[in-house]
Amino acid sequence: MDEQVTHRVAVRPSGVELEVLDGEDLFTAARRLGYRWPTVCGGKGTCRTCFVQVEEGAENCSPVGPLEREGIEALRKPVDGLTRLACRLLVEGPVTVTKRGVRRRVQE
Ligand code: FES
Repeated sequence: MDEQVTHRVAVRPSGVELEVLDGEDLFTAARRLGYRWPTVCGGKGTCRTCFVQVEEGAENCSPVGPLEREGIEALRKPVDGLTRLACRLLVEGPVTVTKRGVRRRVQE
């Protein structure tokens, strides 16, 4: 069995820590691990509600793609690698982001 490579992403201010799989975007990882992450489009890269501020580890983040660039510009944020869309963000090492509203989904 191949061992899955994961990377730790810390989310402020909630203090949530996510083990994100190699090749998995942050939004998908959070949902897989049972967290609610603000979204309207459900991860399609169009609503921009999922955006995060990268605090540490920007060098471990994937490059900004064209759709993500459009989204960041629509948010009127600089495309400087520090504002990112969680549903487009892959990581290759430890990263810390700020995103309000991330919390464990309540089991019903
Ligand atoms: S979830 Fe809608 S843009 Fe990321």
